[in-house]
Formats: sequence, C-alpha cells, structure tokens
Amino acid sequence: MKCLGTCIVLGVIVLASAANLNLHPLSDENIALINQKAKTWKAGKNFEMKEWDRVKKIMSGVLPYTGERKIAKAQPHLEIDAIPESFDSREAWPQCESLKTIWDQSNCGSCWAIAATAAMSDRICIHSNQTRQTFVSVEDLNTCCYSCGNGCDGGNPDLAWSYWNSSGIVTGGLYQGNQGCKDYTLIPCEHNVDYNTRPQCSSVSSKTPYCFTICSDRSMDYKESLTFGEIPSYFEEEQQIQLEILKNGPVETSFTVMDDFASYKSGVYQATSGISVGRHSMKILGWGVEDGTPYWLIANSWNTDWGLDGYVKFLRGENHLKIESNCVAALPIL
Ligand SMILES: *[C@@H]1O[C@H](CO)[C@@H](O)[C@H](O)[C@H]1NC(C)=O
Ligand SMILES: *[C@@H]1O[C@H](CO)[C@@H](O)[C@H](O)[C@H]1NC(C)=O
Repeated sequence: MKCLGTCIVLGVIVLASAANLNLHPLSDENIALINQKAKTWKAGKNFEMKEWDRVKKIMSGVLPYTGERKIAKAQPHLEIDAIPESFDSREAWPQCESLKTIWDQSNCGSCWAIAATAAMSDRICIHSNQTRQTFVSVEDLNTCCYSCGNGCDGGNPDLAWSYWNSSGIVTGGLYQGNQGCKDYTLIPCEHNVDYNTRPQCSSVSSKTPYCFTICSDRSMDYKESLTFGEIPSYFEEEQQIQLEILKNGPVETSFTVMDDFASYKSGVYQATSGISVGRHSMKILGWGVEDGTPYWLIANSWNTDWGLDGYVKFLRGENHLKIESNCVAALPIL
C-alpha cells in the first residue's frame, strides 16, 4: 500500500515530463494528459494517430487575415435585457432542416465555406418564417469564390459572406443530398476508430474540385438558382452576438485552434494545450451554462461521430482563442 501514493506521484511526474517529450497529439497518453488538465470537459479518441496530417488540414481552413478587415462592424442591437440564459436555434425554429444538419468536410479544409453556407441556409429558413428549406451550396462557394482564398486549402469567412452579396451562391446541399443546383462533391470519410461505414479519408482526394457554372442537377438553371445576402458585418461582443442570433439566426465564427480540440468529446471546451494548429471556422447557434460555466453552442463540420454528436460547447464570454472577435453574418435577400 505504501506504493500507492508514491506510484501516483511517480505516474504524474512521468505524465508531466512526457508533455515535453513530444507526445503525439492524438495518442492515448496525450488524451490522458488532457483529461488530467481539463476541468470542464472530457477528451477521448476521435481520430486515429495516422490521421494527424489530415486532421491538421481540416482544423486550419481559415487563412490568416492580412491587414484590416474588409467589412464593417454591425450596428449594435439595443435590447440588452432581452437575452435569455440559454438559447438553441434548433428549438426556436424547429422547422428548419439546415439547423439540424451536421456537415463532413471530407479530406478538405473547407470549414470556412461550410460554416458560412450553413448559417446562410439557416437564415433563409428563419427569415421566411420557416417556410423555405433552401440549402446554400458549399460546393459553389468552396470551388468558385477565388477571392475567398484557396478552397480546400483554406479561405476567409468575411470574404465568403461578401461574395454572397456581390456574386451570389447557388443552391445545393450535402453529398448526394439532391438539395439543389450543386451538392457537395466530396464524400464523407472515416474519422473514427470504432466506426467503419465510410471510405478512409486517405483514399479521398484533398484537391479543390473544379468550379462549374452549370448545375449538376441538369434540370436546374445556374443563374436562377443563385441566392443572395445583404452586405455582411462583424460582431465582436458576447451580448451583440447573442442578440444577433436571437433576432436573425446563427453566425459564423473562427478561432485559434489548439491541438487538444481534435479530441473533444463533451463538456465545455477550453484549451489545455498551448500548441496552436491554425484557425478553424464553425457555426454558433446558441448558448447556455453548464455547471456554472457559460458556453456557446456550436456546430462543427467533422461529422456526427466527433464531439457531442457533431456539436461542441465552447467557453463563452472571455473571447477564448478569439472565438468572439471573429463572428460574421448577413441578412438573406428573399
Ligand atoms: C408564420 O407561420 C405561422 C405558422 O405557419 C403563421 O401562423 C404566422 O402567421 C406566420 N407569420 C408570418 C409573419 O407570416
Ligand atoms: C448587396 O447588399 C445590398 C445592401 O445590403 C443590397 O442592396 C444589394 O442588393 C446586394 N447585392 C445583390 C447583388 O443582391
């Protein structure tokens, strides 16, 4: 029994020093270390270690900003006392299909385009009094918006929303979803260890598909399928983001992503590791408080076997990893 305390102390020392020995971010040892440090969330195995290069790619699809933001700050909402303690867009607008959809980027750094078009689709439904189930095409934005960046090698969320205003984005939904002019052409692929129904991501091309200005559904006309938004603006305070979601629907955010984020399973995420992998975009659709910790309710785009059925609760109110300073959205033109 004398060993018990000593062994635990030794074990902790071994684990702690292992941090300096370049533990693989997706290894069981690193996940155990994260679980020792994390107070508000649990880590677990979401990806195989051999997937790390692809994981880095799908975690860093937001290009660094160069210079000033090219869009303006939103006019402030004024009804501050109307903010409820918790809110979930899926409950507020239950008829909207896009609000219940979790995406899969496949082997592609298209998070910036997915979070944008998902929020655009939600907003078309919300602003049509839940009558229009229009999916705005990730495929079109990811492959045809050259001013946005480099498609599967990353893009800029602000410019994605500007493109919706200047050029429009056709309709289209999930891979083989038959949801409009141009569905996503990249097949959902295997992320997870215990799950074996999808092709391995390593077998899927990581190149940006070509931009076609015709519909893959040949019965539809490209120009007639275009949807448009108003001029976008950005939001950077907690309450303004909340009021925007309450009134107008989900927003796109981007944040500095740390390597431990890949292994998120449940609880309210806050970083335990200082190793940044890049920047990642997701869609904020609500908020709440769990065991006293305020969080944003966010849809990720790594399929439903990542995190909380594809969602993540993320620390709210402290601009953690800049989650609050990079929100962007626009009203749809119906
Ligand atoms: C929105 O839809 C509901 C239910 O169909 C209907 O009762 C309501 O009048 C509609 N509101 C507007 C502004 O069209
Ligand atoms: C861009 O947004 C402005 C104002 O929000 C709007 O008046 C204009 O029609 C939009 N552009 C297009 C092509 O829809």
